[in-house]
Amino acid sequence: PQVEPFDYVIFGGTGDLAMRKLLPAFYHRFLDGDVPDGCRIVGTARAQLDRAGYQARIHDALKQFVDHASYDEKRVRKFLECVFYLSLDGSRADSDWDGLSGLLEGGEDRVRVFYFATAPRLYEPACANLHEKGFVTAGSRVVLEKPIGTDLASAEEINAGVARYFDEKHIFRIDHYLGKETVQDVLALRFANPVFEAVWSGEYIQSIQITAAETVGVEARAAYYDTSGATRDMVQNHLLQVLCLCAMEAPKSLEADDVRDAKVAVLKALHPMTDESVRSDTVRAQYQKGEIAGHAVPGYLEELGHPSHTETYVALRAEVETPRWKDVSFYIRTAKRMKAKTSEIVVTFRASSSQLFPGASRPNILVIRVQPDEGLSYRLSVKDPQDDTFTLRSAEMNVGFPQQFGVRYPDSYERLLLDAVRGNPILFIRRDEVEAAWRWIGPVLDAWARDVAPMSSYVAGSWGPDEATRMLDLHGDVWHEAM
Ligand code: BG6
Repeated sequence: PQVEPFDYVIFGGTGDLAMRKLLPAFYHRFLDGDVPDGCRIVGTARAQLDRAGYQARIHDALKQFVDHASYDEKRVRKFLECVFYLSLDGSRADSDWDGLSGLLEGGEDRVRVFYFATAPRLYEPACANLHEKGFVTAGSRVVLEKPIGTDLASAEEINAGVARYFDEKHIFRIDHYLGKETVQDVLALRFANPVFEAVWSGEYIQSIQITAAETVGVEARAAYYDTSGATRDMVQNHLLQVLCLCAMEAPKSLEADDVRDAKVAVLKALHPMTDESVRSDTVRAQYQKGEIAGHAVPGYLEELGHPSHTETYVALRAEVETPRWKDVSFYIRTAKRMKAKTSEIVVTFRASSSQLFPGASRPNILVIRVQPDEGLSYRLSVKDPQDDTFTLRSAEMNVGFPQQFGVRYPDSYERLLLDAVRGNPILFIRRDEVEAAWRWIGPVLDAWARDVAPMSSYVAGSWGPDEATRMLDLHGDVWHEAM
């Protein structure tokens, strides 16, 4: 449904996320008619910049990050008319809040979204200022970027701090993986297709791998990334959310709280990590120099220019202790500077119990390609056409969603930015989910900090360290690229 004109204030408006994702996403929504005339998008940051300067930066960002087919100079100029800028330090009471009042004038009855794309320690002070300066109206809500905190205690503190000024129903904790169409497809696949619904348990499934591999290094984000690492950056939030969708019981309905209840139940059912399991079921590593797509790239420490104990690769094995998932391994892995940019879910099925066909067949695997090349494939066994006996051979069923539907697959932020305007929380994270995820992953980070398990290394442009291959080997599994 069409939305009424809204005001959207972005804290961290000059940052990487705003330029790379948020403003291009707004531009796409504008093209679709979802940013009606009169909307105001106000970027704020500490930088001293005027409106024209900010618009010029966005103009450049759109040129760079909007796909060619959607970029239209005239439309871009029109879009920029709804963009404003204010130099503001949200954490300071004596900053230019009057300037913000001026920019939001007349918008008291509108939906007003405050989007925090800043360091999480600024969330509470900025909320306090918004509250004290009278910016919080009935239609106000906040969007909080991940990671919320760096451990359970800091997450609880941030959540409690924001809760002093906003009700839970006005707090939208964003996890852009949930906005990906193909991640939402996990629900459709599992609960709208009897064939998959029937086999979705440890009786038929041997393991589920969730991978988010990137080819980029840490680039301009080193200051943030080096304090975070792959586990806090990707696992605590995105990948555990994907695991929840894969493993949860059927929610009572598609109402936000029913889905969140089902997800949180998975987080609580994860087998707790101990020092022992950190040694056997986790691998952390840093990339060393290597080559990606024919280009030589430096190692992580060279890129940083100082020593670091931050992992750029993590792989771990988890168990969900529910009857459905008895004897099933859930593997999660994510890293920078891998061989290819790909996010996927790989479900490996157990061998057929039938003895009819002699010789080993390769297992059935279902691959949900989250991105790029959104779609799915299913590898199954068929009879080898070049053989007169019943020898089996693998064949693949493959569906590409964009090709099938003839549509562009939108970036996840396009959906999520507007869901916050509409007040639709289904793809946002509830407070207890954030905390349950930290409760589970925290012991891994603690154990690593005590060097319970070593830091490994991998060559940039590879699929990661050998230790990760061995970790799966112990359970009779292999990573997708080796299947
Ligand atoms: C972000 C992380 O949340 O997700 C980044 O902070 C990462 O480090 C990004 O690059 C990956 O997102 P996507 O959608 O490209 O897989």
